[in-house]
Amino acid sequence: MRRRFIAGNWKMFNVQGETRDFFNKFNVLLNDNADVMKAIIDKSIEIALFPPMLSIAPAVESSGNAAISIGAQNCHFEKSGAFTGEVSAPMLADAGCTHVIIGHSERRHIFGEHDAMLNKKTISALEEGLIPVFCVGELLEEREEGKTFEVVERQTVRGLESIDAATVAEKIIIAYEPVWAIGTGKTASKEDAQEVCAFIRKLLTDKYGSGVADRVLILYGGSVKPDNTKAIMSQPDVDGVLVGGASLKPDSFYAIVKEALSEI
Ligand code: PGA
Repeated sequence: MRRRFIAGNWKMFNVQGETRDFFNKFNVLLNDNADVMKAIIDKSIEIALFPPMLSIAPAVESSGNAAISIGAQNCHFEKSGAFTGEVSAPMLADAGCTHVIIGHSERRHIFGEHDAMLNKKTISALEEGLIPVFCVGELLEEREEGKTFEVVERQTVRGLESIDAATVAEKIIIAYEPVWAIGTGKTASKEDAQEVCAFIRKLLTDKYGSGVADRVLILYGGSVKPDNTKAIMSQPDVDGVLVGGASLKPDSFYAIVKEALSEI
């Protein structure tokens, strides 16, 4: 069975002091729950948090014996250079990150990041040993026009272009995040989430074979809360969740971890 992956994307929230406070509380909640700690140690569950850039250092310091993986929400595709305001994959690895979100819909739609650029970012992250959490997902109008699969296929295939099968199997996490469900309180139904996650796994099977596709973690994201986690995670092709708003507070993120664990 694939491990479960519970990720929190803090977006542009939580300054350094709030980050330390979060971990002080969250670590206690985790440590007090022997089942959660056992699941983390035997790697049946992995917890990852993606703070804003300036909160990465306090998160790495306070994340408690690597029980929680820390990642960034973006990186540049070059390793260094004259790119004012940008942060590169080697800088993230140097700061203690193990993961990086690539192609979040807010990056695609607010900052104009396109498929070819996101492929370069993914490759750059992999070259530094970072695990990319590669996001795909359709806009509301694309869903209404019946283009969900077309959009998700294009984003997935172009995003992973020229990455070899072994790397995809071991290092890539894909997150399906329908844009209409992000921050809106509208969760995709568990059937919708399963349908698209299964479609992504089929794409990977066609391209790399089932030996690879069966190993790739596929997450769902979009208005995940403690009360819908269990239903979403009960789906065979949904291996985890990428949580925005409900990951900002230790209690609600911990509640999501517990719900996820009850599905194992
Ligand atoms: P949300 O965000 O859980 O607040 O909808 C999810 C995301 O954007 O990753």
